[in-house]
Amino acid sequence: MSKSVFITGASSGIGRQLAFEFARRGYRLALGARREDLLQSLQAELAGQFSVAVEIAPLDVTDYPAVRVCLQQMADRLGGLDIVVANAGISYGELVGCGEFAKTQKTFETNVLGACATLDAATELFLARGSGQLVGISSVAGFRGMPGAASYCASKSALTTYMEALRAQLYERPIQVTAIYPGYINTPISRNMDSRPFVIDVEKGGRLIADLIEKRVDRAMVPRFPWSLVARLLPLLPTRVIAKVD
Ligand SMILES: NC(=O)c1ccc[n+]([C@@H]2O[C@H](COP(=O)([O-])OP(=O)(O)OC[C@H]3O[C@@H](n4cnc5c(N)ncnc54)[C@H](OP(=O)(O)O)[C@@H]3O)[C@@H](O)[C@H]2O)c1
Repeated sequence: MSKSVFITGASSGIGRQLAFEFARRGYRLALGARREDLLQSLQAELAGQFSVAVEIAPLDVTDYPAVRVCLQQMADRLGGLDIVVANAGISYGELVGCGEFAKTQKTFETNVLGACATLDAATELFLARGSGQLVGISSVAGFRGMPGAASYCASKSALTTYMEALRAQLYERPIQVTAIYPGYINTPISRNMDSRPFVIDVEKGGRLIADLIEKRVDRAMVPRFPWSLVARLLPLLPTRVIAKVD
């Protein structure tokens, strides 16, 4: 039987593109997001182009118990899950100390706890089954805190560290942990930003990420160049340089 993949945040951007990529590669799909109408039209579009099973479910990753239930239901419907991609994420670009703490809270609830809830439930499934691949969509933003993006950068840093620990916990088990660090990819999350250096289109981003998942890498920047260089440089730059980043 073909492999199956569950993707959170599949209604838009990278998650949506990954759905097309994996459908094209013959995978069976389980797709979750809050906007069910977008998932329904995505399901119809996929059915028109590919003959693969596509299950959809309304899912808010900040409803942590519901994440576990959803994963279990999707596994039952597809006869097991091989890959789980914790992709759902938000970015507000709020400023600290300017009355925007609610956005900071929501960012951590979604990007950190929502991703952890997804990976925790997936790990439970994979431990019971004896195999699987956990994928987390982190970000190069996690390598250095940027002004105007404190909670987003910190949330991605937390996810990155969580995944490193998870990989160590699962060492010697047949469960792969793949951490993806995209640079700028042209999706709604970043469309209103003033500057998006080295931005790539979502078709290319989705293709590169799907390739990396299929290669079962431990971790990778997307695209590798120039972000693997930038990621090394970022922690070395003095704060006076970082302070000027828009
Ligand atoms: N695009 C970039 O430049 C870039 C760079 C680095 C990392 N990333 C990461 O890539 C991931 C995908 O982002 P994107 O670029 O594809 O942005 P996007 O187009 O805005 O998509 C975000 C997705 O996350 C879902 N989502 C948000 N909150 C959710 C929640 N509480 N529960 C369930 N789903 C939720 C949204 O679906 P609903 O609103 O329908 O729930 C949507 O499908 C994010 O984790 C982001 O941080 C993106």
